[in-house]
Amino acid sequence: MSAEPVPSADPVPSPHDGAELHADTPHSLSDGTTRWPVLEGIPYLRAGRDEVREQALAALDDGRDRDAAAVLLADNDDWWDQPPPPAEQLRAVLDAAALREAVAGLGLGRVGDYFLHRDHDPSGLAVLALTAAHPPAGRPVLDLACGAGHLLRRLAQHGEDDLTGVDVVFSKLWLARRFVVPAHVTLVCADLAHPWPAPRGEDTYVAVHDVLYFLDEPAAVLATAAEHAGGRGAVVAAHCHNTGQPGHPRPPESWAALLPGALADGEEELTSATLERRLPRSADAQDLGDTEAVALARDARGAAPEPALLDPAPGADLRPNPLYADGTRRWPNDVWGAEYGPRAATYLPERWPDPLPDDAVARRLLVDLPGAW
Ligand SMILES: C[S@@+](CC[C@H](N)C(=O)[O-])C[C@H]1O[C@@H](n2cnc3c(N)ncnc32)[C@H](O)[C@@H]1O
Repeated sequence: MSAEPVPSADPVPSPHDGAELHADTPHSLSDGTTRWPVLEGIPYLRAGRDEVREQALAALDDGRDRDAAAVLLADNDDWWDQPPPPAEQLRAVLDAAALREAVAGLGLGRVGDYFLHRDHDPSGLAVLALTAAHPPAGRPVLDLACGAGHLLRRLAQHGEDDLTGVDVVFSKLWLARRFVVPAHVTLVCADLAHPWPAPRGEDTYVAVHDVLYFLDEPAAVLATAAEHAGGRGAVVAAHCHNTGQPGHPRPPESWAALLPGALADGEEELTSATLERRLPRSADAQDLGDTEAVALARDARGAAPEPALLDPAPGADLRPNPLYADGTRRWPNDVWGAEYGPRAATYLPERWPDPLPDDAVARRLLVDLPGAW
């Protein structure tokens, strides 16, 4: 493993006060007062984690990169309810040959299952339809709360080359770096509740999917996203939980009011659009009372839709959906089954069909998994 310099040439704003950070060693950034570790090209700029930051820095300064990795990989969301695995196990994760081996070693449990199956869950399919209807179209992409980088991977395959992902959990970004996204994608660990480690743009495409209902201040995040998007950019936010769903849910019209001028889509319509290989039909947020989650999209440039984003990348190495074992569909865990099972069951039959139907790719019987899945 190597501690590489930050890949971006642009100065990175500090999460403390927005002051510019510069590389002071190959494995750290500094604003002259506070230093931040950088591991595998991923700056750890999470505010409020001084102990983690200092322990990781001390290990890196000593040349103990694997110890630094174990410190950063142990850090998780505040709401995560499992203790981190022992440091020895986390050091061993660094040698994992495949995504699912790494996910298991990191002890990510049901969150790990979410990322292993993100490409073919109903909500991930909804993200694709929203992105196809409102694509970046060559603009810089800032994917907030990017998780393990599935959207960034698909956009890279589609030819987008200015791609940045931000997430508060280092291990998710590390999974992205190792197994999911190509090397030119910039990844930064930071908390959206603090100044963002990304310069403001004029035409940035800001994505913030499946996260706003987790956050205490989604209005502030959307307002800051709009500032970062600039006058020719876009803000897209999929899977904002409707009333009755977990987290901090709101009715669709309340979400829509946080991004004035946005088009709204119900999640079920978005998922269906991807499965049917067509663009989604937007709706009035007031008519989406029955949806599980609403998606918002506001594009100042009004980029033309790119339906190719509904499908796996052309020429992808398609493999049988790993939700099937010995010809039988199995949900990865009970939480996944309860949240996605009823909707996934509409496109993934209980038994592996033989012969495969003509729409096996659209229905995600065959899928484009990250190379070392
Ligand atoms: C359900 S996952 C969605 C991941 C990704 N957007 C996707 O659609 O595949 C939610 C993500 O939000 C991240 N997250 C939660 N709170 C955050 C915060 N305050 N700042 C940055 N990321 C956060 C989590 O670490 C997690 O990766």
